[in-house]
Amino acid sequence: MNSSASAPGKVILFGEHFVVYGAKAILCSIDKRIKVTSQLIDEKKIKIKSELGNVEADADSSSNDSHELFKPFVYLADKTLKKFNKNCGIEIKIESEIPSGIGLGSSSASCVAAAASITGLFEKLPREDILKLAIEAERKIFNNTSGADCSVCTFGGLAEYDIKNGFKKINSGSDFDLVIANSKQSHNTSEVVEKVKKFKENNKELFDSLYKQESELIQDVFVSLGKNDLSKVGSLMSKNQALLEQIGVSTDKLDILVKEAKKTSFGAKITGAGGGGCIIALVDKSNITPTLTNLKDYAEVFSTRIDNRGLVDTF
Ligand code: MEV
Repeated sequence: MNSSASAPGKVILFGEHFVVYGAKAILCSIDKRIKVTSQLIDEKKIKIKSELGNVEADADSSSNDSHELFKPFVYLADKTLKKFNKNCGIEIKIESEIPSGIGLGSSSASCVAAAASITGLFEKLPREDILKLAIEAERKIFNNTSGADCSVCTFGGLAEYDIKNGFKKINSGSDFDLVIANSKQSHNTSEVVEKVKKFKENNKELFDSLYKQESELIQDVFVSLGKNDLSKVGSLMSKNQALLEQIGVSTDKLDILVKEAKKTSFGAKITGAGGGGCIIALVDKSNITPTLTNLKDYAEVFSTRIDNRGLVDTF
């Protein structure tokens, strides 16, 4: 029997990094997905097949050092086999529309889809339980995650998130598109988060002030989203970018992309950890084409809209 599930990627519209320290973030899932298909196999192995490579781990080892990237899947498979007392293995196939390592949530989406697909071999869990498992799994490679990314990949839509209160959908009725430009500078989210931690430790007062500015800015975003005032939301995005630049997560290439994007869009910023990866530009029908055309000369670009489905499973 096969068990398949898919989850969307995500962009962070506001609040990355500050969310790790308790601030609110605003984020949405996007119309690009990762699908995971699992099946039980007789051999006592966890076999993973993906575009990033094929690996095999022993079914009773959740800490196989040779496959860093695949640790979350080995963890999920191992935990599930133990829970159901199964003396066999699992084969996991990962198919992705989301490039990895560019800040669009490929790691979180794959953890969410894998948690649903693997547990789905035995039981259908509520989304809250899948989310808990996915965060546990992602912590095998990224211990400091705020949980924001896995939450939006599970529930989908446009949402606010903070560590204390968790995930809450925003029903603002706002209607926008996003242009995404990929700098092709690869980054490691965990390393960038660690770098910001050091920045915070060495610049306590400055960080506190930036944190406060971010929290105030996000309150303004709620008001502007409620009015569908995209021009204001865009200008707040550009303000958020200035805060991110100050904590050192932009790069020369990302600065250029943001500068170019701002010429035609409502506003632009890094999305996700930064240090490479993607920028997003807020647009609607009036300025989507010029923004795509403008950024095409500098980066790989595409447009996206909010995905409202979140996790989808097909047992
Ligand atoms: C990464 O997409 C977002 C960060 O805020 C980390 C996190 O929230 O776990 C940089």
